Amino acid sequence: MVTGYLLFSLGTAVIGSLQFGYNTGVINAPEEKLRSFFNQTWLQRYNEPISSGVCTIVWSVAVAIFSVGGMVGSFSVGIMANRFGRRRSMFLVNILAVIGGLLMGFSTICSSYEMVIAGRLVIGLFCGLFTGLTPMYVGEVSPTPLRGAFGTLHQLGVVVGILIAQIFGLEVLLGSDKLWPLLLALTVAPAVLQCILLPFCPESPRFLLINLKLEEQARKALVRLRGTEDVNKDIQEMKEESAKMAMEKTVTIAELFRSAAYRQPLLIAVMLQLSQQLSGINAVFYYSTGIFSSAGVKQPIYATIGAGIVNTIFTVVSLFLVEKAGRRTLHLLGLGGMAVSALVMTVSLLLQTHITAMSYVAILAVMLFVAMFELGPGPIPWFIVAELFSQGPRPAAMAVAGCCNWTANFLVGMSFPKLWCGPWVFLIFTAFLIIFFIFTFIKVPETKGKTFDEIAREFGGALPPATSSAEDPGATSSTAITLQASSPEK
Ligand code: GLC
Repeated sequence: MVTGYLLFSLGTAVIGSLQFGYNTGVINAPEEKLRSFFNQTWLQRYNEPISSGVCTIVWSVAVAIFSVGGMVGSFSVGIMANRFGRRRSMFLVNILAVIGGLLMGFSTICSSYEMVIAGRLVIGLFCGLFTGLTPMYVGEVSPTPLRGAFGTLHQLGVVVGILIAQIFGLEVLLGSDKLWPLLLALTVAPAVLQCILLPFCPESPRFLLINLKLEEQARKALVRLRGTEDVNKDIQEMKEESAKMAMEKTVTIAELFRSAAYRQPLLIAVMLQLSQQLSGINAVFYYSTGIFSSAGVKQPIYATIGAGIVNTIFTVVSLFLVEKAGRRTLHLLGLGGMAVSALVMTVSLLLQTHITAMSYVAILAVMLFVAMFELGPGPIPWFIVAELFSQGPRPAAMAVAGCCNWTANFLVGMSFPKLWCGPWVFLIFTAFLIIFFIFTFIKVPETKGKTFDEIAREFGGALPPATSSAEDPGATSSTAITLQASSPEK
């Protein structure tokens, strides 16, 4: 069932995830270099050095504007995916990576720190679009029994991207005074590679059949992806979904909010995205150097790379577990494990001034925190949104969920340094983790092994209300919430 062509198509799509990870991780290492570039430019222009306050503002804007771009990009994913299709959207979006990469790469030659900021914004837009496009494409081309395992590939791309950025960012490689613009511009290379490979990948068969009604083309794509002529079952399942959606067409974001049939899955999608970001994972990733220094590590950069390696290993573990253990179980396990690790991290960081051995416990707790994140809260929220919705509302739902993720990411990134009151800050994340654990336990259904149609039906038929119930939101409410979180796995 798993053909080389399927793996090739998935691998090509996942280059977008790698880009997201790379650009998330790349900005940390060269902070000092960028600050001194801002200063030089300022000196050239105004004949005086930049004040440390202004320098920090320029730096913070350069970091944070990436997430602002991400919010806008992720919110636009529905429009792109429906208008141009999944594959062509991925192709077109790469133009942004080229523009953003070149802006940052030529910033020193042009003596313009504005180019770094503009580049980060454009790259953010690009990454925001890919956090929707990749999971959507992967979910739509994967066979049902492996949709979760392949869905995890998006997160695997992200973590490998972060790791590459951490390694390339070392001073001896590209994180030096001279080479940092190249480090930031390197994002152009995978963009070009993906544009070369995409024409050999198929458009999503679900998009071809359900959205464009091109059955023959959908069949051809499926035959190549599955490596067998016998794709009738897939085609049949899509046709059923298509027939149900006949009235629905594509759902706009406004319709998504108005319709009672989507309320429950939308709540779950948004809460899972929030659980990913408010777990505090990026407080660790963005500020790991500081955390490791306070735990007494002499060369924190290597501990950070260690965390990146643990991150990657456990994403692979999740990939193999997700079809056996299920999404719900792994997400619960991950959140619970993170809550315990955050608690241990707080206590050990507090005690290490008295007991030296506690600094080792603190380092272990950080690693465990990262490992538990990748078991569930890292990969699952990204792909489960595609599973919770059928073809019509999927792009709009991905847009809303993705935008919530980016907004929460932005808020954590901005507020963590201000919240930093010593190790106590991790208790805030522990509290969030407990809340999300309870929510997941009560509300989140298991989607393992179910077709999109089966999942939608369990949410009350998902017979979408394009015109009818969009105007009358109450129409389906009695049937909307039929899926119990504790429903036995099929
Ligand atoms: C997820 C998060 C991202 C985070 C990464 C860490 O992809 O969305 O914000 O940096 O995991 O592995």
